[in-house]
Amino acid sequence: MLTHAQNELLTRVGPGTPMGDMLREYWVPACRSAKLEVDGAPERVRLFGENFVAFRATDGRVGFLAEACPHRCASLALARNEEGGLRCIFHGWKFSVDGKCVDAPTEPKAQRERFAASVPVRHHPAHEAGGIVWVYLGKAATPPRFPDYEFTHLPASHVQPTRGIIRTNWLQGLEALLDSAHVGYLHSANLGSATGREMFKAESDYMLDDGAPVFEFVEQPYGFREGAIREEAGGMAYARIREVALPFFSFIPMAPGGSGVVCCSIPIDDVTTAQWYIAFNPHAPLAFDVMSAFGTTSGDPDHFNADMGGPENLWHQDRQAMKDGHWSGITGRGNAYEDFAVQESMGPLVDRTKEYLGTCDRVIYRARRLLLAAVGRFQRTGEVSFAGEVIDFARIRAISFAYPKGIDWRTIDAFDPPLLAAE
Ligand code: FES
Ligand SMILES: [Fe+2]
Repeated sequence: MLTHAQNELLTRVGPGTPMGDMLREYWVPACRSAKLEVDGAPERVRLFGENFVAFRATDGRVGFLAEACPHRCASLALARNEEGGLRCIFHGWKFSVDGKCVDAPTEPKAQRERFAASVPVRHHPAHEAGGIVWVYLGKAATPPRFPDYEFTHLPASHVQPTRGIIRTNWLQGLEALLDSAHVGYLHSANLGSATGREMFKAESDYMLDDGAPVFEFVEQPYGFREGAIREEAGGMAYARIREVALPFFSFIPMAPGGSGVVCCSIPIDDVTTAQWYIAFNPHAPLAFDVMSAFGTTSGDPDHFNADMGGPENLWHQDRQAMKDGHWSGITGRGNAYEDFAVQESMGPLVDRTKEYLGTCDRVIYRARRLLLAAVGRFQRTGEVSFAGEVIDFARIRAISFAYPKGIDWRTIDAFDPPLLAAE
Protein backbone atom coordinates (compact mmCIF):
# COMPACT_ATOMS: atom_id res chain seq x y z
CA MET A 1 0.00 0.00 0.00
CA LEU A 2 1.20 3.48 -0.77
CA THR A 3 0.03 6.90 0.32
CA HIS A 4 -1.75 8.98 -2.26
CA ALA A 5 1.30 11.24 -2.49
CA GLN A 6 3.67 8.30 -3.04
CA ASN A 7 1.40 6.87 -5.70
CA GLU A 8 1.32 10.19 -7.50
CA LEU A 9 5.08 10.56 -7.20
CA LEU A 10 5.73 7.12 -8.73
CA THR A 11 3.20 7.24 -11.50
CA ARG A 12 3.06 10.74 -12.99
CA VAL A 13 5.50 11.10 -15.85
CA GLY A 14 4.57 14.28 -17.70
CA PRO A 15 7.01 17.17 -18.20
CA GLY A 16 8.05 18.73 -14.92
CA THR A 17 6.97 15.85 -12.69
CA PRO A 18 9.74 14.38 -10.49
CA MET A 19 9.36 10.87 -11.89
CA GLY A 20 8.94 12.14 -15.43
CA ASP A 21 12.13 14.16 -15.13
CA MET A 22 13.99 11.23 -13.61
CA LEU A 23 12.84 8.70 -16.21
CA ARG A 24 13.89 11.06 -19.00
CA GLU A 25 17.45 10.65 -17.76
CA TYR A 26 17.59 7.09 -19.13
CA TRP A 27 17.90 5.89 -22.68
CA VAL A 28 14.49 4.45 -23.59
CA PRO A 29 13.18 2.34 -26.49
CA ALA A 30 11.25 4.59 -28.86
CA CYS A 31 10.38 2.44 -31.87
CA ARG A 32 11.65 -0.52 -33.87
CA SER A 33 14.52 0.28 -36.21
CA ALA A 34 12.73 -1.56 -39.00
CA LYS A 35 9.93 1.02 -38.86
CA LEU A 36 12.20 3.69 -40.30
CA GLU A 37 13.12 3.60 -43.97
CA VAL A 38 15.75 5.80 -45.52
CA ASP A 39 13.90 8.93 -46.69
CA GLY A 40 10.68 7.18 -45.66
CA ALA A 41 7.70 8.22 -43.60
CA PRO A 42 8.50 9.72 -40.21
CA GLU A 43 7.23 7.66 -37.29
CA ARG A 44 5.16 9.30 -34.59
CA VAL A 45 6.47 8.47 -31.14
CA ARG A 46 4.74 9.49 -27.94
CA LEU A 47 6.78 9.24 -24.73
CA PHE A 48 6.15 10.64 -21.24
CA GLY A 49 3.14 12.57 -22.46
CA GLU A 50 4.99 14.35 -25.27
CA ASN A 51 4.86 13.85 -29.02
CA PHE A 52 7.87 13.31 -31.25
CA VAL A 53 8.78 12.06 -34.69
CA ALA A 54 11.60 9.70 -35.55
CA PHE A 55 12.89 9.49 -39.11
CA ARG A 56 15.74 7.94 -41.04
CA ALA A 57 17.65 10.39 -43.16
CA THR A 58 19.29 9.86 -46.54
CA ASP A 59 22.56 8.71 -44.96
CA GLY A 60 20.76 6.16 -42.75
CA ARG A 61 21.07 8.10 -39.52
CA VAL A 62 18.04 8.50 -37.27
CA GLY A 63 16.74 11.92 -36.27
CA PHE A 64 14.42 12.48 -33.35
CA LEU A 65 12.48 15.75 -33.17
CA ALA A 66 9.48 17.18 -31.36
CA GLU A 67 6.45 16.46 -33.53
CA ALA A 68 5.36 20.10 -33.66
CA CYS A 69 7.19 22.12 -36.29
CA PRO A 70 9.18 24.90 -34.62
CA HIS A 71 7.50 27.43 -36.95
CA ARG A 72 3.77 27.16 -36.24
CA CYS A 73 3.45 23.67 -34.84
CA ALA A 74 2.21 21.70 -37.85
CA SER A 75 2.92 18.02 -37.38
CA LEU A 76 6.27 16.87 -38.72
CA ALA A 77 4.71 13.42 -39.06
CA LEU A 78 3.34 14.93 -42.30
CA ALA A 79 6.74 16.24 -43.37
CA ARG A 80 8.64 15.32 -46.50
CA ASN A 81 11.74 13.29 -45.67
CA GLU A 82 14.35 14.31 -48.21
CA GLU A 83 18.05 14.98 -48.58
CA GLY A 84 19.08 14.59 -44.99
CA GLY A 85 16.14 16.11 -43.18
CA LEU A 86 12.45 16.67 -42.68
CA ARG A 87 10.79 19.44 -44.63
CA CYS A 88 7.52 20.65 -43.13
CA ILE A 89 4.75 20.56 -45.72
CA PHE A 90 3.18 23.78 -44.39
CA HIS A 91 5.84 26.40 -45.31
CA GLY A 92 8.74 24.22 -46.38
CA TRP A 93 11.08 24.82 -43.46
CA LYS A 94 13.60 22.03 -43.21
CA PHE A 95 15.20 20.35 -40.21
CA SER A 96 18.31 18.22 -40.36
CA VAL A 97 18.92 14.91 -38.65
CA ASP A 98 21.12 16.77 -36.15
CA GLY A 99 18.23 19.01 -35.18
CA LYS A 100 19.12 22.20 -37.02
CA CYS A 101 16.84 24.33 -39.12
CA VAL A 102 18.68 24.31 -42.45
CA ASP A 103 16.19 26.11 -44.66
CA ALA A 104 13.35 28.58 -44.17
CA PRO A 105 12.27 29.31 -47.77
CA THR A 106 9.45 31.68 -46.78
CA GLU A 107 12.01 34.18 -45.43
CA PRO A 108 13.58 36.91 -47.62
CA LYS A 109 16.60 35.57 -49.43
CA ALA A 110 19.08 37.97 -47.90
CA GLN A 111 18.44 36.85 -44.36
CA ARG A 112 17.19 33.33 -44.94
CA GLU A 113 20.31 31.52 -43.85
CA ARG A 114 20.80 33.58 -40.71
CA PHE A 115 17.16 33.28 -39.82
CA ALA A 116 17.14 29.50 -40.27
CA ALA A 117 20.19 29.16 -38.06
CA SER A 118 18.35 31.07 -35.31
CA VAL A 119 15.31 28.77 -35.21
CA PRO A 120 15.30 26.68 -32.03
CA VAL A 121 14.62 23.03 -32.83
CA ARG A 122 13.84 20.48 -30.18
CA HIS A 123 15.96 17.49 -30.99
CA HIS A 124 17.09 14.47 -28.97
CA PRO A 125 19.96 12.02 -29.36
CA ALA A 126 18.99 8.65 -30.83
CA HIS A 127 20.90 5.41 -30.81
CA GLU A 128 20.12 2.14 -32.59
CA ALA A 129 20.80 -1.21 -30.97
CA GLY A 130 19.01 -4.55 -30.71
CA GLY A 131 16.66 -3.66 -33.56
CA ILE A 132 15.38 -0.68 -31.57
CA VAL A 133 15.73 3.10 -31.85
CA TRP A 134 16.52 4.39 -28.36
CA VAL A 135 16.27 8.00 -27.38
CA TYR A 136 17.58 10.17 -24.58
CA LEU A 137 15.08 12.85 -23.55
CA GLY A 138 16.92 14.18 -20.51
CA LYS A 139 18.56 17.47 -19.73
CA ALA A 140 22.27 16.64 -19.80
CA ALA A 141 24.24 18.18 -22.65
CA THR A 142 26.07 14.91 -23.08
CA PRO A 143 23.77 11.89 -22.95
CA PRO A 144 24.50 9.25 -20.33
CA ARG A 145 26.28 6.07 -21.19
CA PHE A 146 24.11 3.75 -23.25
CA PRO A 147 23.02 0.63 -21.30
CA ASP A 148 24.54 -1.92 -23.62
CA TYR A 149 22.57 -4.95 -22.46
CA GLU A 150 23.52 -8.26 -23.98
CA PHE A 151 20.71 -8.16 -26.56
CA THR A 152 21.86 -4.78 -27.83
CA HIS A 153 25.08 -6.38 -29.11
CA LEU A 154 23.39 -9.07 -31.20
CA PRO A 155 22.92 -9.18 -34.97
CA ALA A 156 19.42 -8.70 -36.36
CA SER A 157 18.90 -12.44 -36.83
CA HIS A 158 19.35 -13.04 -33.08
CA VAL A 159 16.95 -10.49 -31.66
CA GLN A 160 13.31 -9.67 -32.29
CA PRO A 161 11.70 -6.71 -30.55
CA THR A 162 7.92 -6.47 -30.37
CA ARG A 163 5.68 -4.06 -28.57
CA GLY A 164 2.32 -4.24 -26.87
CA ILE A 165 0.38 -1.14 -25.93
CA ILE A 166 -1.67 -1.10 -22.75
CA ARG A 167 -4.06 1.51 -21.46
CA THR A 168 -2.53 1.81 -18.03
CA ASN A 169 0.14 3.69 -16.21
CA TRP A 170 3.73 2.47 -16.65
CA LEU A 171 4.07 1.24 -13.05
CA GLN A 172 1.18 -1.19 -13.50
CA GLY A 173 3.06 -2.56 -16.48
CA LEU A 174 6.31 -2.83 -14.58
CA GLU A 175 4.70 -4.42 -11.54
CA ALA A 176 3.07 -7.10 -13.65
CA LEU A 177 6.49 -7.92 -15.10
CA LEU A 178 7.93 -8.27 -11.61
CA ASP A 179 5.12 -10.25 -10.03
CA SER A 180 6.20 -13.88 -9.74
CA ALA A 181 3.22 -14.91 -7.63
CA HIS A 182 0.62 -14.73 -10.40
CA VAL A 183 2.23 -17.06 -12.86
CA GLY A 184 0.87 -20.33 -11.49
CA TYR A 185 -2.65 -18.86 -11.45
CA LEU A 186 -3.24 -16.36 -14.23
CA HIS A 187 -1.19 -18.30 -16.78
CA SER A 188 -2.00 -21.79 -15.61
CA ALA A 189 -3.98 -22.72 -18.72
CA ASN A 190 -0.96 -21.99 -20.89
CA LEU A 191 0.98 -24.53 -18.92
CA GLY A 192 2.67 -26.76 -21.41
CA SER A 193 0.38 -25.62 -24.21
CA ALA A 194 1.68 -24.87 -27.65
CA THR A 195 0.60 -21.24 -27.46
CA GLY A 196 3.54 -19.16 -26.46
CA ARG A 197 5.33 -22.26 -25.34
CA GLU A 198 8.64 -21.42 -26.93
CA MET A 199 8.77 -17.80 -26.03
CA PHE A 200 7.47 -18.27 -22.53
CA LYS A 201 8.98 -21.64 -21.91
CA ALA A 202 11.00 -20.35 -19.02
CA GLU A 203 7.99 -18.72 -17.43
CA SER A 204 5.94 -21.86 -17.91
CA ASP A 205 8.61 -23.86 -16.17
CA TYR A 206 7.66 -22.03 -13.02
CA MET A 207 4.35 -23.78 -13.19
CA LEU A 208 5.54 -27.16 -14.38
CA ASP A 209 7.91 -27.18 -11.52
CA ASP A 210 5.51 -25.72 -9.01
CA GLY A 211 5.89 -26.17 -5.31
CA ALA A 212 6.87 -23.40 -3.01
CA PRO A 213 10.07 -21.78 -4.11
CA VAL A 214 12.01 -19.69 -1.66
CA PHE A 215 12.59 -16.19 -3.01
CA GLU A 216 15.88 -14.55 -2.26
CA PHE A 217 16.99 -11.11 -3.35
CA VAL A 218 20.35 -9.56 -3.96
CA GLU A 219 20.47 -5.81 -4.42
CA GLN A 220 22.46 -4.65 -7.40
CA PRO A 221 23.53 -1.18 -8.51
CA TYR A 222 21.02 -1.52 -11.38
CA GLY A 223 18.15 -2.83 -9.24
CA PHE A 224 18.12 -6.36 -7.94
CA ARG A 225 18.46 -10.01 -8.72
CA GLU A 226 15.67 -12.32 -7.65
CA GLY A 227 16.41 -15.97 -7.06
CA ALA A 228 13.53 -18.46 -6.92
CA ILE A 229 15.11 -21.51 -5.34
CA ARG A 230 13.54 -24.95 -5.32
CA GLU A 231 14.72 -28.10 -3.68
CA GLU A 232 14.99 -30.97 -6.12
CA ALA A 233 15.58 -34.70 -5.71
CA GLY A 234 19.06 -36.18 -5.65
CA GLY A 235 20.71 -33.47 -3.59
CA MET A 236 20.08 -30.84 -6.25
CA ALA A 237 18.51 -27.43 -6.18
CA TYR A 238 16.97 -25.46 -9.04
CA ALA A 239 17.39 -21.73 -9.29
CA ARG A 240 15.63 -19.26 -11.53
CA ILE A 241 17.50 -16.00 -11.38
CA ARG A 242 15.62 -12.99 -12.65
CA GLU A 243 17.36 -9.70 -13.23
CA VAL A 244 15.49 -6.49 -12.62
CA ALA A 245 17.24 -3.48 -14.13
CA LEU A 246 15.28 -0.52 -12.87
CA PRO A 247 13.52 1.57 -13.73
CA PHE A 248 12.21 -0.28 -16.79
CA PHE A 249 13.61 -3.75 -17.44
CA SER A 250 12.88 -7.27 -16.26
CA PHE A 251 14.89 -10.15 -17.71
CA ILE A 252 13.08 -13.49 -17.72
CA PRO A 253 15.41 -16.41 -16.91
CA MET A 254 16.54 -18.53 -19.81
CA ALA A 255 17.99 -22.01 -19.84
CA PRO A 256 21.75 -22.05 -20.48
CA GLY A 257 22.37 -22.15 -24.20
CA GLY A 258 18.79 -21.13 -24.97
CA SER A 259 17.00 -17.97 -25.93
CA GLY A 260 15.67 -15.36 -23.57
CA VAL A 261 13.10 -12.62 -23.28
CA VAL A 262 13.57 -9.23 -21.75
CA CYS A 263 10.56 -7.06 -21.06
CA CYS A 264 10.26 -3.39 -20.29
CA SER A 265 7.50 -0.97 -19.51
CA ILE A 266 7.97 2.44 -21.11
CA PRO A 267 5.55 5.29 -20.36
CA ILE A 268 3.72 6.73 -23.36
CA ASP A 269 1.79 9.03 -21.04
CA ASP A 270 0.28 8.73 -17.56
CA VAL A 271 -2.30 6.19 -18.70
CA THR A 272 -0.71 4.46 -21.69
CA THR A 273 2.35 2.24 -21.71
CA ALA A 274 4.50 0.52 -24.29
CA GLN A 275 5.26 -2.93 -23.04
CA TRP A 276 8.15 -4.33 -25.03
CA TYR A 277 8.94 -8.03 -25.35
CA ILE A 278 12.39 -8.46 -26.80
CA ALA A 279 13.25 -12.05 -27.63
CA PHE A 280 16.89 -12.86 -28.22
CA ASN A 281 19.29 -15.70 -28.55
CA PRO A 282 22.89 -14.88 -27.70
CA HIS A 283 24.21 -18.02 -29.38
CA ALA A 284 22.32 -18.44 -32.64
CA PRO A 285 19.61 -16.94 -34.83
CA LEU A 286 16.20 -16.98 -33.16
CA ALA A 287 14.45 -20.18 -34.07
CA PHE A 288 10.90 -18.95 -33.60
CA ASP A 289 8.74 -16.03 -34.51
CA VAL A 290 7.72 -13.95 -31.53
CA MET A 291 4.48 -12.81 -33.13
CA SER A 292 3.24 -16.38 -33.48
CA ALA A 293 4.31 -17.12 -29.92
CA PHE A 294 1.92 -14.41 -28.71
CA GLY A 295 -0.96 -15.97 -30.59
CA THR A 296 -1.72 -12.51 -31.94
CA THR A 297 -3.92 -11.95 -34.96
CA SER A 298 -3.07 -8.26 -35.25
CA GLY A 299 -0.06 -8.80 -37.50
CA ASP A 300 1.45 -5.64 -36.05
CA PRO A 301 4.73 -6.04 -34.17
CA ASP A 302 4.38 -2.45 -32.91
CA HIS A 303 1.02 -3.16 -31.34
CA PHE A 304 0.74 -6.91 -31.26
CA ASN A 305 -2.18 -6.82 -28.83
CA ALA A 306 -4.37 -4.56 -30.97
CA ASP A 307 -6.82 -7.47 -31.04
CA MET A 308 -7.09 -7.91 -27.27
CA GLY A 309 -10.37 -6.13 -26.67
CA GLY A 310 -10.94 -4.00 -23.60
CA PRO A 311 -13.12 -3.38 -20.56
CA GLU A 312 -16.22 -3.10 -22.72
CA ASN A 313 -16.00 -6.78 -23.69
CA LEU A 314 -13.92 -7.97 -20.73
CA TRP A 315 -10.96 -8.59 -23.02
CA HIS A 316 -12.91 -11.35 -24.83
CA GLN A 317 -13.01 -13.51 -21.74
CA ASP A 318 -14.71 -16.79 -22.57
CA ARG A 319 -16.87 -18.04 -19.69
CA GLN A 320 -17.63 -21.32 -21.40
CA ALA A 321 -13.93 -22.00 -21.71
CA MET A 322 -13.63 -21.34 -17.98
CA LYS A 323 -16.38 -23.88 -17.29
CA ASP A 324 -14.45 -26.27 -19.45
CA GLY A 325 -11.34 -25.84 -17.36
CA HIS A 326 -9.49 -22.80 -18.69
CA TRP A 327 -8.37 -20.70 -15.73
CA SER A 328 -8.59 -17.13 -17.03
CA GLY A 329 -10.95 -17.53 -19.99
CA ILE A 330 -8.57 -15.43 -22.07
CA THR A 331 -7.97 -18.15 -24.56
CA GLY A 332 -5.90 -18.86 -27.61
CA ARG A 333 -3.24 -16.32 -26.70
CA GLY A 334 0.07 -16.23 -24.93
CA ASN A 335 0.64 -15.05 -21.41
CA ALA A 336 0.99 -11.41 -22.40
CA TYR A 337 -2.72 -11.11 -23.19
CA GLU A 338 -3.66 -12.39 -19.76
CA ASP A 339 -1.20 -9.98 -18.17
CA PHE A 340 -2.53 -7.05 -20.16
CA ALA A 341 -6.14 -7.85 -19.31
CA VAL A 342 -5.54 -7.83 -15.56
CA GLN A 343 -3.34 -4.76 -15.81
CA GLU A 344 -6.01 -2.83 -17.68
CA SER A 345 -8.75 -4.19 -15.42
CA MET A 346 -7.23 -2.25 -12.50
CA GLY A 347 -8.09 0.97 -14.31
CA PRO A 348 -5.76 3.37 -16.07
CA LEU A 349 -3.97 4.43 -12.90
CA VAL A 350 -4.58 2.15 -9.96
CA ASP A 351 -5.18 3.70 -6.55
CA ARG A 352 -2.53 1.99 -4.45
CA THR A 353 -3.97 3.38 -1.22
CA LYS A 354 -6.67 0.72 -1.63
CA GLU A 355 -4.41 -2.32 -1.81
CA TYR A 356 -3.76 -4.93 0.82
CA LEU A 357 -0.38 -6.53 0.12
CA GLY A 358 0.70 -10.01 1.20
CA THR A 359 3.95 -11.90 1.46
CA CYS A 360 3.70 -12.73 -2.24
CA ASP A 361 4.14 -9.02 -3.00
CA ARG A 362 7.64 -8.69 -1.59
CA VAL A 363 9.09 -8.03 -5.00
CA ILE A 364 6.52 -5.33 -5.69
CA TYR A 365 7.26 -3.71 -2.36
CA ARG A 366 10.99 -3.88 -3.03
CA ALA A 367 10.71 -2.25 -6.45
CA ARG A 368 8.51 0.55 -5.11
CA ARG A 369 10.89 1.21 -2.24
CA LEU A 370 13.86 1.41 -4.62
CA LEU A 371 11.99 3.67 -7.04
CA LEU A 372 10.83 5.97 -4.25
CA ALA A 373 14.39 6.21 -2.95
CA ALA A 374 15.67 6.89 -6.47
CA VAL A 375 13.17 9.63 -7.22
CA GLY A 376 13.78 11.17 -3.78
CA ARG A 377 17.51 11.20 -4.43
CA PHE A 378 16.97 12.68 -7.86
CA GLN A 379 14.81 15.45 -6.41
CA ARG A 380 17.35 16.26 -3.70
CA THR A 381 20.58 15.96 -5.64
CA GLY A 382 19.84 15.51 -9.33
CA GLU A 383 21.72 12.21 -9.19
CA VAL A 384 20.45 9.29 -11.23
CA SER A 385 20.22 5.84 -9.64
CA PHE A 386 20.56 2.46 -11.40
CA ALA A 387 23.21 3.95 -13.67
CA GLY A 388 26.88 4.73 -13.73
CA GLU A 389 30.21 3.24 -14.64
CA VAL A 390 30.05 0.51 -11.99
CA ILE A 391 27.35 -1.32 -13.91
CA ASP A 392 28.35 -3.84 -16.52
CA PHE A 393 25.05 -3.90 -18.44
CA ALA A 394 26.39 -6.35 -21.01
CA ARG A 395 26.87 -8.95 -18.27
CA ILE A 396 23.32 -8.87 -16.95
CA ARG A 397 21.79 -12.20 -17.84
CA ALA A 398 18.86 -14.03 -16.25
CA ILE A 399 19.17 -17.80 -16.21
CA SER A 400 17.72 -20.95 -14.75
CA PHE A 401 19.90 -23.86 -13.76
CA ALA A 402 20.20 -26.84 -11.47
CA TYR A 403 23.10 -27.19 -9.09
CA PRO A 404 24.12 -29.30 -6.14
CA LYS A 405 22.63 -28.10 -2.91
CA GLY A 406 25.17 -26.38 -0.74
CA ILE A 407 26.53 -24.10 -3.47
CA ASP A 408 25.44 -20.50 -3.06
CA TRP A 409 23.54 -19.56 -6.24
CA ARG A 410 24.75 -15.98 -5.86
CA THR A 411 28.28 -17.06 -6.68
CA ILE A 412 27.33 -18.65 -10.01
CA ASP A 413 28.29 -16.80 -13.18
CA ALA A 414 25.28 -16.54 -15.50
CA PHE A 415 27.64 -16.48 -18.50
CA ASP A 416 29.38 -19.64 -17.42
CA PRO A 417 26.86 -21.68 -15.49
CA PRO A 418 28.17 -24.94 -14.17
CA LEU A 419 26.50 -28.28 -14.22
CA LEU A 420 23.14 -29.15 -15.58
CA ALA A 421 20.77 -27.04 -17.52
CA ALA A 422 17.38 -27.43 -15.90
CA GLU A 423 14.71 -28.31 -18.42
S1 FES B 1 4.48 25.18 -39.64
FE1 FES B 1 6.15 24.12 -40.39
S2 FES B 1 7.03 25.41 -41.83
FE2 FES B 1 5.39 26.53 -41.05
FE1 LIG C 1 2.41 -12.74 -16.48
